[in-house]
Amino acid sequence: MSILRRGTRLLTITLAALTISTFVGAEVIDDDTPVPPAGTPGGPTVPLTGADLEQWIRGRKVFDRDWRLDQGLGTPELNADSCRSCHHHPVIGAAGQLDTNVFRFGADNNGNGPFVDLPGGQIASKLRRVDVPGREDANGAADVFEVRQTPSLLGIGLLETIPESAILANEDPFDTDGDGVRGVARMIAIGGAFEVGRYGWKAQIPTVSDFLRDAVSEEIGITLPDDGRGFGLLTDSDPVPDPEIVDADFDDALFFLMNLAPPPRAGGTDPAIPQGEALFSTIGCATCHIPTLPGAGGPVPLYSDLLLHDIHPAEFRGMAEPDAPVGMYRTPPLWGVRDTSPYLHDGSATTLEDAILRHGDEALNARTNYEQLTAGEQDALLLFLEDL
Ligand code: HEC
Ligand code: HEC
Repeated sequence: MSILRRGTRLLTITLAALTISTFVGAEVIDDDTPVPPAGTPGGPTVPLTGADLEQWIRGRKVFDRDWRLDQGLGTPELNADSCRSCHHHPVIGAAGQLDTNVFRFGADNNGNGPFVDLPGGQIASKLRRVDVPGREDANGAADVFEVRQTPSLLGIGLLETIPESAILANEDPFDTDGDGVRGVARMIAIGGAFEVGRYGWKAQIPTVSDFLRDAVSEEIGITLPDDGRGFGLLTDSDPVPDPEIVDADFDDALFFLMNLAPPPRAGGTDPAIPQGEALFSTIGCATCHIPTLPGAGGPVPLYSDLLLHDIHPAEFRGMAEPDAPVGMYRTPPLWGVRDTSPYLHDGSATTLEDAILRHGDEALNARTNYEQLTAGEQDALLLFLEDL
């Protein structure tokens, strides 16, 4: 069976699953839903009062809203009818499991390269699939397919407070220090300038506001007013007047996301946890999964460098984007990783150990070092990850 046929079948099966999870699930937030304490999963980053608390609560409701057709849902894009449909595990705003993955496709000459985008771009959604009118050229030419796992949004506002200089300081594209690791920042052109891409599996988007615009359009099919930065759809073909989201709802949802607490440490007391933490550094995991980067309000314990790396084998096939070639992904933050299985961009690793064993290329040394640990040391490292 060709990759395309396999991909299409996977798409159909997964879309069926998605339909069930998406449309049966009803809104979970109402006026009486308690706000979890500040700093706990699903709560605000810091205690909020007054107008700030009210805005955060309103934003959580926008995130939870089941959009209707008469509000502009769909056309041309639709993967689900709310943000919460995908970002819900273990709390609203967090991660999604396999049934919430989204899909991209392109052509790479049966793996021989180079990767090219097909007419209409990489994104396949429920309403804009490979085989719809206007994309006939794509259908048949597509031979490479990528699924993307829904990441947790807990703490994402803090990533925006990390100065660009702190991210760029860890770049080493030509591996001048000879450790085999070649991190590079994804630079995104906005107007006449470049900004560091911080969000998305390929670090394709610079800010939470940009990603909110992108998701509102690409996942829900809702149009937005122009903010001049190039993300999100301004018009679509349904009869609902554009823009379909009002500014106040957008601002509230952004405030909610910017102030969604990072996942707290589990706080286990097993002495193997600090042992695992030390091993995480000594075997080279911390070279890419940097424990903290400086943020405006103090160190941000994200366990990422926010740089692109290639940890996949040479025969890996996937999407290429400008300045993010096939195989390159942003180091995913590991905070909260205990709750976000399955792992890797495509959810192909079921356990944390599976994820480690799939590291190669730039992370080959780290993986080999892991394999050479004693069983007790490996357990300690995994216990540490389970505590993040
Ligand atoms: C169909 C499932 C789905 C829906 C619905 C959805 N998302 Fe996502 N979200 C994803 C996936 C998958 C990614 C990773 C995409 C990528 O990087 O290619 C993602 C990534 C994100 C990110 C970037 C997180 C990071 O750290 O990189 C943000 C922010 C986000 N989504 C916000 C939203 C908002 C806001 C909504 C509602 C307007 C929404 N999403 C609706 C699946 C979904
Ligand atoms: C060269 C940089 C690099 C090194 C070194 C590295 N990683 Fe990673 N790690 C990545 C990248 C990039 C990904 C995402 C790859 C993908 O999704 O295809 C990743 C993914 C992961 C994931 C899955 C996270 C998720 O949310 O899906 C875990 C867990 C992880 N790494 C743990 C480790 C551990 C433990 C080590 C040390 C043995 C390590 N990594 C070493 C770059 C690195």
